[in-house]
Amino acid sequence: MTRREAHAPERFVPVREGGLAGVRVLLGVSGGIAAYKGAELVRRLRDAGAEVRVVLTENAARFVTALTFQALSGHPVRTSLWDESAEAAMGHIELARWADEVVIAPASADLLARLAQGQADDLLTTLCLATAAPVSVAPAMNQQMWAHAATQANATLLRSRGVNVFGPASGGQACGEFGAGRLLEADEIVSLLQARRGPRELAGARVLVSAGPTYEDIDPVRFIGNRSSGRMGFAVAEAAARAGAEVVLVAGPVALATPVGVERIDVRSAREMHEAVLARAKSADVFIAAAAVGDFRPRDIAVHKLKKASRDSGLELSLVQNPDILADVAALEPRPFVVGFAAETEQVEAHARAKLERKRLDLIAANEVGAGLGFESADNALLLLWPDGREALERAGKVELACALVSRIAALRAARASA
Ligand code: CTP
Repeated sequence: MTRREAHAPERFVPVREGGLAGVRVLLGVSGGIAAYKGAELVRRLRDAGAEVRVVLTENAARFVTALTFQALSGHPVRTSLWDESAEAAMGHIELARWADEVVIAPASADLLARLAQGQADDLLTTLCLATAAPVSVAPAMNQQMWAHAATQANATLLRSRGVNVFGPASGGQACGEFGAGRLLEADEIVSLLQARRGPRELAGARVLVSAGPTYEDIDPVRFIGNRSSGRMGFAVAEAAARAGAEVVLVAGPVALATPVGVERIDVRSAREMHEAVLARAKSADVFIAAAAVGDFRPRDIAVHKLKKASRDSGLELSLVQNPDILADVAALEPRPFVVGFAAETEQVEAHARAKLERKRLDLIAANEVGAGLGFESADNALLLLWPDGREALERAGKVELACALVSRIAALRAARASA
């Protein structure tokens, strides 16, 4: 296997001169023999036009000197949270805000573990928590350490939180072994960073997303709800915002943080969600219905808590149908690009395609629920169907899937615009 083949899924584009012009890159270097390659990376980043500031971990400083990085970056290098003079010049929070991109190269197994844990036990991990900038890591370690289930789980968790994992490459290692764990070349890292920042797929588009469950009140203390966690819809909102869209998220009752840059409207019932979505749908370019909307609601909401009439009396609830938000948006004229979700327990593709046609959708994202997938899990797998195509997205973190969904939406809209 050649080194190129080992990381074939990543597409390298030639480093563009000035491709990172004016971009403020905070380069973190962690402790490992590949730390010396960080010096070359500073050069390549600056050649591409970036402004670079460097943070070394305490262990990195055992392999390389701060002076080297100071000379190459043209700025003082930080190594500790507890450096009073450096904190007085540019405090760690200011530094976290200063960055447009945080890149950690090399990222050791220990650093990945600490990031995955959300630790803030040194300057670099603290900066990673304190920054709103995208974080990219280029792992470098012994191939056994990279292959270890703990490291793989950490990398998967970081990816699911939106951290870009660049590489590692395969090849001969400093320890004499051969395998995956080599730091990517400096040019490759710069190229990946450039590609990631490249033209954003949904720049300027107005995207409306519905997410989470709905609660249909029975009386002041009881409701009919469902198990939707809202995570898929929140991931979709986050992915659309990252792709440059202006995002409004209409959320049912969930305990999730609002993604950065997203406007959130909280609702409770299907009718409230219907009203909030329909008020905004005409001015949206894309509507993505990721909510698990309750199909029925009690005909009347009891003003007082319902009491048991006698020891063995039952209770009959009379239910009426809720409006179908997705179908109502799809019926608008003009209408946005309409994306639905379909949670199915069997014959996923057949049922989802029927739903795509019945609701006149532009795209449907179908998933099988049950067996550890879907509603309550962090992972999911999606089958994307549109009138003349399909794409199966393998099981992955919801943020990764959401990014793939957003790319497909962007591609279908672009194809329609040029048709
Ligand atoms: N949906 C909606 N409003 C509703 C019901 C569903 O907007 N009142 C949307 C969901 O957000 C999802 C899609 O419709 O994007 C599919 O929902 P689902 O419940 O799977 O489909 P139904 O139309 O209810 O079909 P069925 O119950 O027959 O599976």
